[in-house]
Amino acid sequence: MQIYYFSGTGNSLHVARELTKRFPDATLVPMLSVLRDDRIASTAETVGLVFPIHNLTLPLLVRRFLQQADFKSATYMFAISTRLCSDKVFSDIDKLLAKQGKSLDATFSVEMPCTYTPLFKSPSQEELARMEAELQKRIDTIQTVIVNRQTSREKDDPLVFFLGHILYPVITAYMQNVRFPGMIRSFYADSKCTGCGVCEKVCLTGRIHMKDNRPEWSNRIDCAYCFACLHYCPVQAIQIRGRSTIAKGRYHHPEITVADITRQKHEEGKE
Ligand SMILES: Cc1cc2nc3c(=O)[nH]c(=O)nc-3n(C[C@H](O)[C@H](O)[C@H](O)COP(=O)(O)O)c2cc1C
Repeated sequence: MQIYYFSGTGNSLHVARELTKRFPDATLVPMLSVLRDDRIASTAETVGLVFPIHNLTLPLLVRRFLQQADFKSATYMFAISTRLCSDKVFSDIDKLLAKQGKSLDATFSVEMPCTYTPLFKSPSQEELARMEAELQKRIDTIQTVIVNRQTSREKDDPLVFFLGHILYPVITAYMQNVRFPGMIRSFYADSKCTGCGVCEKVCLTGRIHMKDNRPEWSNRIDCAYCFACLHYCPVQAIQIRGRSTIAKGRYHHPEITVADITRQKHEEGKE
């Protein structure tokens, strides 16, 4: 089994690792480590995808990965989104896989802390403990489905179907075309910045470079919208102008380190 993951703040990597504890033969492969490669050819019969939701849809780099990947060897495919969302996300993956004659056999959403700081505060220790306990139960269920190679597609109820198929795409288009291009030019480090360079290390697209001990965000390089820079900054110095990020706290998965996030960018990131 190969499990491909994309993770900005560690939630998706944590879920992928928890799954590999139940499938010791599985290989964990960062989507980013193979994205630079022209030939993203999977060799496994069972392929899993684990990723966050960004703007009510697939993260841009996950979409790019799926456009390039070759899953011809796969006879069973599953996907896990690390936030609850509409099944539209999974039908979007099916559309990308259709050109290879593939589709997802099983889909799952798991509840994890939300890292979209402009709207959400970081979770309390109690909330984290509750989510982790739920996650472990959920992964037991996911394990059973995969072991038995069952078809298991989560279906939206009518309200979520309406939101997912009619309203969400409009919001996504607005966010991606209007809000986000402005927002990604609004990252800055405030006076707490110590020049440690953690933000440069975790930046998944390499848009951050340290200059005179301060981070600079290039506008010529794509942003992954992962917020790793903001959440991994050890002194909470990174803010987004106009988005009230100062008082919201910070969160990254407690077991996922700066080195874990950084490793996704390198070929040797495979675990
Ligand atoms: C820019 C951005 C947009 C997000 N949009 C959504 C969203 O539309 N719906 C949702 O449920 N979670 C959203 N999230 C939260 C993440 O999907 C969630 O916290 C995920 O578990 C993070 O995974 P990671 O730590 O592996 O990156 C967003 C997070 C970010 C940073």
